[in-house]
This record gives sequence, structure tokens and C-alpha cells, in this order.
Amino acid sequence: MQNPIEVFAIRSRRITRFAAGVVLGAGLFCASGSPSFLGAQTAPASINFDQVTMVFRLDASGTTYVMGVNEHGALQTLYWGKRLAAHDRFAAAKSEPNYALDVSETITLQEYTGWGGALYVEPDLKISYPDGNRDLVLKYVSNTFDGDTLHIVMKDIDRDVFVTLEYKIDEGTGILRRSSTIENRTRAPLVVEQAMSGTWNLPRATDYRLRYLSGRWAGEDNINELPLQPGKTVLESRRGTSGPQKNPWFAIDHKGATEESGDVWFGALGWSSSWQLSVEQDSAQQVRVTGGFNSFDFGYRLKPGERLVTPPFYGGYSAKGMGEASRLMHRFQVDALLPHLGDSTGPKLRPVLYNSWEATEFRVEEPGQMALAEKAASIGVERFVMDDGWFGQRKDDHAGLGDWYVNKQKFPNGLKPLIDKVHSLNMSFGLWVEPEMVNPDSDLYRRHPDWVLNFPGRPRSEGRNQLVLNLARPDVRAYVFGFLDKLLSENDIAFFKWDYNRHWTEPGWDAAGPENEKKVYVEFIRNYYSVMEELRKKHPQVEIESCSSGGGRVDMGVMQYTDEVWTSDNTDAFDRLTIQNGFSYAYAPAVMMAWVTDSPTWVNYRNLSLEYRFLSSMQGSLGIGANLNKWTPEDFSKAKAMVAQYKKIRETVQRGSLYRILKPENGSEQSLTESVSRDGKQAAVFAFLHSSRELYPFPRIYLQGLDDNAMYSLTAFAGKLAPDTPSSASGSYWMHHGFDTELRGDFQAAGFTLERTTP
Ligand code: DGJ
Repeated sequence: MQNPIEVFAIRSRRITRFAAGVVLGAGLFCASGSPSFLGAQTAPASINFDQVTMVFRLDASGTTYVMGVNEHGALQTLYWGKRLAAHDRFAAAKSEPNYALDVSETITLQEYTGWGGALYVEPDLKISYPDGNRDLVLKYVSNTFDGDTLHIVMKDIDRDVFVTLEYKIDEGTGILRRSSTIENRTRAPLVVEQAMSGTWNLPRATDYRLRYLSGRWAGEDNINELPLQPGKTVLESRRGTSGPQKNPWFAIDHKGATEESGDVWFGALGWSSSWQLSVEQDSAQQVRVTGGFNSFDFGYRLKPGERLVTPPFYGGYSAKGMGEASRLMHRFQVDALLPHLGDSTGPKLRPVLYNSWEATEFRVEEPGQMALAEKAASIGVERFVMDDGWFGQRKDDHAGLGDWYVNKQKFPNGLKPLIDKVHSLNMSFGLWVEPEMVNPDSDLYRRHPDWVLNFPGRPRSEGRNQLVLNLARPDVRAYVFGFLDKLLSENDIAFFKWDYNRHWTEPGWDAAGPENEKKVYVEFIRNYYSVMEELRKKHPQVEIESCSSGGGRVDMGVMQYTDEVWTSDNTDAFDRLTIQNGFSYAYAPAVMMAWVTDSPTWVNYRNLSLEYRFLSSMQGSLGIGANLNKWTPEDFSKAKAMVAQYKKIRETVQRGSLYRILKPENGSEQSLTESVSRDGKQAAVFAFLHSSRELYPFPRIYLQGLDDNAMYSLTAFAGKLAPDTPSSASGSYWMHHGFDTELRGDFQAAGFTLERTTP
């Protein structure tokens, strides 16, 4: 075994996001950061390496993560869970003994395995060489510490294939970010057939339960539970996008953990193309979660000297149940993932927006949009977004995609008059685009039929009458960047709604040549990210919403470049409660765009009051998508009041801590959420009754997350409190005595705020 240890001395310093390190004495390096965010003053974040035992230890917030190099040179997981005492020491890693049919390599929990040797569990990396050899056994070589990042270098026992594992731990949440870089330093090309970001190994136990999100168009983010048993559960997308069918997120709990108590391990991939999460309980009943590029149809050729970097794989631990696991994810996304637009206090609060889609669909034109803009401004909307239909020969979804010039019949003088009008109403202007798509009935397709994903000579399947432009191609990337840049340079546009309304089929990339064709799964998405990154650099004011027929492209990859996501095309405010509940397990309310639309919706013809619809949408980032031309004066005055109320609580909703107190799951007749602001001065509560039965009252509301000893005043801004409710009481009272709301009937809702009145 090679074992040259490189430890770089760096100075101790405070850092803002991930732990930064320092070498301590001979062979021990550690890092330090600031205290945890969720109120608890924990020790600073740190990364340590003990050169004698060869043990790495990462600590931040409430989490400790430990791994060690064992006697065979494999990098073994030693611990992942609740933060341990600083003086706790770990013995050197020691591999499991051989069993009759499963030798040590398969049973020993490793951080990153090559497929080779005696490995039967899901490998992280599988390679084939031109000489037919496919054996890969990775051993520890060295580690380096670079700023806030720990790099661990592994190498095959014989050939010059190197893998550098990267680890960062977020000081505020203890969430780890892992990725791997595979490098071919041999003299011949090789093909990477499977490349994972890494494997999360859970403590040995047999009573684990997996949670994951599944769905479809207009039905995203259903939460599923599955007891883990021997075998493998594979969650994946093979569609070239993250997709609503499964979301690249998981949570695994233990010993009957609940919403507010018990151990939960969770993670998510930062990748928006085909992805794979394999949750495996092996023959020794150990649970491993391996995630990265989907290995189906994968094949990435690396010439000598070339590298492949895998997506980030995030993982975290909560000792306080599923609720805290979600709050950690929310906090991490807001503080460390979303674009910050130069604001040191976090991403910009989401403005209240109006979107034209449900009002006018493709029938957008200047006077109609101006009239809607005036009405939207009158209720306090801050951003007006014109959706599909403004470009090319776009009358419906059969034509126009790809032709990104303004339609002269609809906007004879370009977009400027509308944008000026929107600005004169004190709103910013946003525009819908679908950059990666083309209709066969478009000038672009007629000019460049070779630009779409296809296998030459084979049929090209259409979805919504459109084909996917192959953004992996440099000419397509240049075209997409070019027209978006031109739109931003020539118009005062603050926001793109970036849509993506079909998934891949026939994913051929003929021009790349047979050896490189399959790189499309990686290069397409890298270009998608890089276009957004470059646009944002050149036009720092622009914000982007990720949309894919609703919530079909929501993942921690796209969230690095976008400010919000469109949650679902299903805008029925009752259905939304379930979709938003599922969404909140993995993603922050700050990014969850939720429109108030007309009732009944096209989805299920249910009638819901305007107040109910507002309350449902106010749980996330508020938008209005109704046809304001049909609203009555009463609707306008109700909407004005609700928008004004939202502005008073939006920081709490978007940046605060979310408590799912009554969940709309398993046929529950009620749902209730509470958000507590970061400074603890405000709480916002939303209560929904789906249908009351047999004289049973709405359950008493017991709040969470307040300060026991502080006083809070309670106000109902929608719905009613029980007559004997005090207007002011202690945090203890609201949390332990609780209070009642008088909700009765079908589809009733209420909204409350608590304001802290004592320091
Ligand atoms: C799908 C989106 O989810 C809708 O909100 C709308 O933008 C349409 N596309 C427009 O074609």
C-alpha cells in the first residue's frame, strides 16, 4: 500500500459556509467556524486528520462524520450521526473479516469503491480498459486540505486511474457535500461505465425506513415510506432531466423516528440530468446509499489526462426527526446553495409576482398584457411575468419554439412598450422562455434539423409537439446563450421563467462520434448550468425560475443557478397542500412558487374561496396566476389585503424554520404549518380543514419553536379563533396549552400571526 501523507498547513480562520481547517501539531489538522444556526450554540465546525490512526473527522453543527484508512488501504466509513465530544477518539479503521461467500471487501463499509476485486455491492466506479480489463481496486494514496475542502486521493492498485474525493461540511447545518473526480493518467483511453459521487453508509441496524418523493405532471412530490429490507431500492431518472417521477432526494429514519424526534439521515444529488440513487441493504444488513450519474446507457470516455467530475451528493443528519431534517435542508439551501445576488444576508426575498399563463395562455398581446399589468399592480404585485406565446409564430404549442424574436402581430413595437408600462406601475418585468426546445414547425428546425437529440435515420419522438435541442453541441450552446443574452441586453428583463416541457427520447449525438456520443448525459447539463452561470455573470440583475411542466426540474443542481422553481401546473389550492407538503421535505419554501388562480381550476373543478387559495399559496413564494379580468371589486379588495399581509410575513415564511404540525398525509382531514422567523420575533400559522365530520372540532393547535419564556400576541388575519383565546400569552402557553380555531365545514382555512412582545 502506498501511503505518502500530504497535510498542508493553513492558517485558522472563520469561514462563512463550509468548515475551514488548520494543522494542529504533528499530523492533526483541524478547522474552525462559527456556531450553529438553529439556536443551539454548538462548537465550531472542524475537520481533523489523525496521522497516527489515519482517521478523518468532520464536525459541524449537530453532526460528526468519521472515516479511516484500514489495513488494506480502503477508506472505511466509521461514523455518521449526532455530534460527539471533541475529545472522543476513534480507533483505526479495521476491515470486516472474510465470510464464506462474502469476502471482506463486500462487507466492509467503504466511502468509494471501484468495481473489481471481490465486490458485489453497488460500486461507485466501474471502468473498462481498451485491453478488456475491467478490474478496479481503489486504495488510499494521500490527502490534501485546500481552503475549506478536504481532498482524499485514491488510486487503483496497479493502473494510473486516480479518484479524488472531495468533502466539505457546512458549518451551519452539518450538511456534507461530496463529489469525486476520476482521472485517467494511463497512456490509453478508458471508458467510465458507472460513476457515482459517493456512498453514504448508515450505522448498522435493521429497522430503517426510507422516504422518497414521487409524482407526475400535475401531481408532484408525493411522499412515500418504505421499510428497508434486504435487497436494493433504486430511485432514478433515465429521462435526461431530474423529472417529477422521482426526485433525487432521500431520507432514512430509524427506530420509529417521528416528525419531531429520532435519528434521520438524508441526502440529495445536485444533478439535473439522468440520476441514480441506490439504497441497498446488504447481506450483512448494512444500509448504503450510492448516488450519482445514472449508469443506464452511461459511457464516458476519458483520454489520457482527462477527468470526469461527478455531481455533488449532499448528506445530512438530524437527531430531531424528519421536521429538523427538512429545516436543515431549507437552511442549507437558503444560506449556502441558492444564488445570493450580492446580498450578504441571503438570497433576495422573492417578490410577489403575477404570471399571465392561466389568464391568457398563448393569446398574449400588448393591450391585453398591459391591462393585466395594471390590475396586478393594483393589488400589490411586484413583478409581472409574461408567459408563453410572445415569440415566433407561436399561436399554440405546435409552432414557434426556437424562434426567439418578438411576434410583430402581438407586439408591433417590440417588448419595450409593455416593459415600460410594467415599470411605470412599479413592477419588474419577467419573461417566459424554453431555450432547450424546438418545434419542428419553426425556422430554427428548418435551418438546423441536425441540432436535435436523435439517432440519424430513426424516428424522432415528439412530446408536446416539440423536440429537444442538443445543448451538448457547442453551436447549440452558442445559439441558446446568444438569444438569451440578446433578450437581456436589449430589454430591461429582471426574470426568466425557464421552462422545459418534455423529456428525452432517442438521445443520440451523432456529431460527437460513436466513442463520445454517450457523453451527452453529462455535457448537456454542464452546458445548461454554464449558460445560466454566464448569463448571471453578465447580467447580475437577472433571476431565474426553473420550470418543467410544473415541478419537473427541481433538484439541488439547478438550485445553484436559479432563484425559485415552479412547483406544479396543478394550481388547485387543496391539491397544492399535499404537493407543497411533499416539496417541503426536501426543498425550501423560499423557492416554492405558488400561484393563486381561478376557481374551479381545470384540474378537478373544485370550488375554493379566494381566501383559502391565498392561504395555500402564502405557504411559499406568493404569485397570482388568475384571470384578473374576471375578478369582482370584492376579489380585488380581498387580494389586496392578502398580498399586504403576505408581505408582512414573507421573510418568516421564506427564511424561517418550518414546522409541519398537521400533515396532509394518509387521508388526514386537516393540515397545519407554522413558520418561525430566524430572529424568533414572528411566527406565521396556516390551518386548513378539508372536511369536518361528526361534530369533531379542528384539533387544538400546539405550536413549536417558540421561546418558552417570551410573550407573544396572537392575531387571526383569516378565519376565527375560539372566543376564549387570549390575545397574548407565553411561548409555553402557545406550545403546551395551545389554542383553538373555529374551523368547520368543507375547505375552510385560517391564518394567524404571533408577534413576540418581550425581548
Ligand atoms: C408549462 C408551465 O408549467 C406552465 O406554467 C406554462 O408556462 C406553460 N408551460 C407554457 O407553455
